[in-house]
Amino acid sequence: MARLATEWVKVTDDISIIARESGEVWFHSLSDTKEGANPFATPMTAAGAPGSTIGLLDGAINLGFAGIENRLARPDPTLVGYIVALVGAYHTSVDTPRNLRRAASRFNELGRPEVAAYLEERAREETGHDRLALKDLRALGVPAERLVANFIPQGIKPLCKRFDDLCVEDYPIGCIGYSYCLERIAALKQETDIAKVQALCPDGADATRFLRSHSCLGSEVTHVEETISFVASLPANDRISVVQETYKSALVMAEGYNHELLKSDAEMLEELEQAIGEALPYRASSSPSRDEKRAAQAVA
Ligand SMILES: [Fe+2]
Ligand SMILES: [Fe+2]
Repeated sequence: MARLATEWVKVTDDISIIARESGEVWFHSLSDTKEGANPFATPMTAAGAPGSTIGLLDGAINLGFAGIENRLARPDPTLVGYIVALVGAYHTSVDTPRNLRRAASRFNELGRPEVAAYLEERAREETGHDRLALKDLRALGVPAERLVANFIPQGIKPLCKRFDDLCVEDYPIGCIGYSYCLERIAALKQETDIAKVQALCPDGADATRFLRSHSCLGSEVTHVEETISFVASLPANDRISVVQETYKSALVMAEGYNHELLKSDAEMLEELEQAIGEALPYRASSSPSRDEKRAAQAVA
């Protein structure tokens, strides 16, 4: 009988993620190990398998998000927060096809046509997603083009920069980890999350196109599945880099969430109105204490 795969990746100086094909995942701390007794000290070299690869990738996201309070991680949406999230969604998707194609052409130069083909396919699939966010903003009566031209939510900026930087690296394999992180988190969104947002929107406004397509109902689920299979097929050193970047992207994303979560509705509304130079037809939800502060629920 073939042995089940075990994969491991060191993601910080102290922590390695270990995943078995059976679905078990755990975090191994170097400081808990007696010298010379760490079986995960040397990087893995064997072939991957989808069952263990998903454990590593999702373990990396969980570890990256471990610092964010559960209570705040899934805040109830408000309309103002949703508008901010749509602006974020626009910015995290507008350059995606171009960036992925740039990384693909680098892999062609490097003689890795299979990676290039995967990235080109992803670029095709992601094309037009920025327009979904613009349509949603328009459906909410917001001057969409002016808003996105003048405003990037502070918490989203480092995320966009990270992806830009990853895609122009000499060996841009990390862009797969970044994309996995964003898509996996989007795919966690349930029908009830969409219904909550829909309930906030003015009657008849179809303003959840982006959210629907970046949720468990949309293409994100297949994108995630395809990425897991693809990553599992890569050589060990590539899988290590992808998992390490998934962890780093999750940290950047968690930090960005935290930043946006600290803002009140009134602060977010002020930012939006300043960006477009006029009042929006919405009022901020009252938020007298930090506990009641509502935040942009990221939809990217
Ligand atoms: Fe997308
Ligand atoms: Fe996607």
